[in-house]
Amino acid sequence: MEPLRIVHISDTHFGDEFRPEKFKKAVKQINALEPELVILSGDIATWGIHREFRDAYEALADIKSELFIVPGNHDARNDGLKYFRLYFGDVKKSIRLDDIIIAGVNSTLPDSDDGYVGEEQRRWVEKKFRNSCINMLVLHHHVIPVPHTGRNRNVLIDAGEIVESLMLHCHGGVVLAGHRHVPYSTKLLRTHIIHAGTLSSYKVLMPDQNYNILEFNEEFFRLKLRFVEHGEIGIGRFAIKHGMPEAISIYHSLTSTKRVLFVATDVERARGMADVFNRLSPENMHASVVTPDNRRIRELLTGADYVVALEDFKNADDVWKADIGEKEVEKKIRELVEKLLRDV
Ligand SMILES: [Fe+2]
Ligand SMILES: [Fe+2]
Repeated sequence: MEPLRIVHISDTHFGDEFRPEKFKKAVKQINALEPELVILSGDIATWGIHREFRDAYEALADIKSELFIVPGNHDARNDGLKYFRLYFGDVKKSIRLDDIIIAGVNSTLPDSDDGYVGEEQRRWVEKKFRNSCINMLVLHHHVIPVPHTGRNRNVLIDAGEIVESLMLHCHGGVVLAGHRHVPYSTKLLRTHIIHAGTLSSYKVLMPDQNYNILEFNEEFFRLKLRFVEHGEIGIGRFAIKHGMPEAISIYHSLTSTKRVLFVATDVERARGMADVFNRLSPENMHASVVTPDNRRIRELLTGADYVVALEDFKNADDVWKADIGEKEVEKKIRELVEKLLRDV
């Protein structure tokens, strides 16, 4: 049986923060996946102004699948929710896909970055959810804080009420959110809480802009993290009604910095390679060069996550031929970047 596929994107940030080339690439990839539904968990715009929503409306029309969109704090700026409603309909909405009930709420407050769902929407969600179904809540803000983001506060003011409501009414459920531009997932009792990073903002706190792919089968779902430029990472296969192996180490590894050390007597050659690495790799990676006889070599080797030597060197993780051509160097460096990205 074909899995039911949902693509979860977030924080497109049309306007000042928008990177159109990332968006266009992602849309092509998403269309090729032919998902049943594409969920956008808010921050469509940057300043909540009309032009951003109109641009978003026109660009999102390139996504061939059905769209399900809730607003984020940036959309609510400058009374932007009126434009949200103009182009994307109600700020609170629900849909049913087979056994999955999806309820989306507006977690924004006027003139504030804080999140709040409120009793009325909470009761509405509780009435939508069914014990026999997979219940999915979509909102922009966090139900629990996303750690290691530099701003680890919980910004949903009524998170306690929402958590309690999920415990009581969301039997085997999923929460989809965005906001912090960091993909992350964890489990709270029977509820899987999944955050998407940013699809197309330059404010990216990961190696690359990214989105989530969820594939539902009868007993379980798979969660994949897809980078716009750097392929896909499997986060896990999770039982819907039972336990979930935590995938936290994957996220930690993706955000950690990676230091590469090129060891060579031919410093110029090695520098050229390090330059190529620094040009091709994401922001969390950096390469530097050292000669084997450098007095600090022991210290530099200890600090390195990966060591490439251009001639025999016993502490190297990899030895490259010193005379390899430029094309081969670029190919090897691309492979190394992918390896470091996936080395979890
Ligand atoms: Fe955002
Ligand atoms: Fe946000």
